[in-house]
Amino acid sequence: MSLVNRPRRLRLTPAIRRLVRETTLQPADLIYPLFVRHGAGLRLPIDSMPGQAQLTIDLLADEAREISRLGVLAVILFGVPAQKDAIGSDNFHDDGIVPSAIRAIKKAAPDLLVISDMCFCEYTDHGHCGLVNRPGHERYNPQLPAGYLLNDATLELLGRASVAHARAGSDIIAPSGMLDGMVAAIRAALDAEGFAHTAIMSYAAKAASVFYGPFRDAAESPPGFGDRAQYQIDPANRREAQKEIALDIEQGADMLLIKPALPSLDIIRDARESCHLPLAAYQVSGEYAMLRAAAAMGWLGLRDAALESLISIKRAGADMIISYFAKDVANWLESS
Ligand code: PBG
Repeated sequence: MSLVNRPRRLRLTPAIRRLVRETTLQPADLIYPLFVRHGAGLRLPIDSMPGQAQLTIDLLADEAREISRLGVLAVILFGVPAQKDAIGSDNFHDDGIVPSAIRAIKKAAPDLLVISDMCFCEYTDHGHCGLVNRPGHERYNPQLPAGYLLNDATLELLGRASVAHARAGSDIIAPSGMLDGMVAAIRAALDAEGFAHTAIMSYAAKAASVFYGPFRDAAESPPGFGDRAQYQIDPANRREAQKEIALDIEQGADMLLIKPALPSLDIIRDARESCHLPLAAYQVSGEYAMLRAAAAMGWLGLRDAALESLISIKRAGADMIISYFAKDVANWLESS
């Protein structure tokens, strides 16, 4: 039979398939998340995220050098402080857990880029991403419901904490709390303190997703009451994600981040087509845990399932991906 169009011609051999491959993945595309905790000499495995651990600062030098050697260009830091309080003060002290970790990493591996996840949920005793409206507290606003995350009061704290992280050597501040005006507030605070060259990667479109569940164990940051639906986007909303992205661009974001990744491929694609900023996606803890769990049951091959997920996220339009598989991928690609 004469068929003019035979797409299978280009699938005939491994070489021709490789030749026409549209999307590729390399260690430099990936960003590795690190959970940093207080204490010494500890690598505490995270039960719901097999293969991941909380590390103490003294173990970061070796870890940073290994990540750098693997060709991964950046890490994103999450802190688990010794003390939590109502305003998350560990996050803006120069000797807080993350500023200390940044200095340790920069000393051991100066070229490894450090991204600060900029949020308060790991530092507040109530586990919300900033100051909460509580009767009797200094910033209490009776017009807003008790328990409401106070927007503008939290922006001041985000500015202070961003400056503390920048002073410690953070290259990129990544605000993840989904507060209105957070990018502009952080930009102004950084510029006022002489950190005009510290970049902002905004979690522009972050859904109120159930897939962050394992992370909240890892970072010891589950909300003590309620949920995050008053600040994170309803996963049902695509246009709203585009609006959030436009607002963060207007406010001066240098790069955008979308999460979760696999459940948000349409949003990643929309962002890729509507703007020219570098675009990151976060393959979150639940996405990682699902693959690990299915692989542990023998239902999926871990390597191929992880690689296919990551390639799909890149194909949708992400330039880079934050992934708990970053080190595994680098090792897999090295040995293939
Ligand atoms: C902080 C933050 C969260 C994640 C990244 N930054 C948790 C949340 O919003 O509840 C989730 C990352 C993951 O699940 O891997 N706000």
